[in-house]
Amino acid sequence: MGHRIYVDDQLKPFNFEDADDYNLLDCLEKQGVQMNSHCRAGFCGACRSNLIKGEVAYPGGTPLVYLREGEILPCSCVPTSDIEIQTNH
Ligand code: FES
Repeated sequence: MGHRIYVDDQLKPFNFEDADDYNLLDCLEKQGVQMNSHCRAGFCGACRSNLIKGEVAYPGGTPLVYLREGEILPCSCVPTSDIEIQTNH
């Protein structure tokens, strides 16, 4: 079973399915969430979003982009718990 993801003020959660979703950005876009993105590889910072609740991991290693406390890079991370995020658009 995937982790539930709450986006912005949307009350309806949807699931991150490990088998189908390569990263959080892919998952959000598949669900029709508008996201800023560019490199899709953890370099540019365009996808930077705020993690309100929960935990994420970076399977490919810590991203090079500087992240402030509470910021995540959806193009490079996967949720490791149910999460709530605020998107960047
Ligand atoms: S799209 Fe470039 S860091 Fe995520």
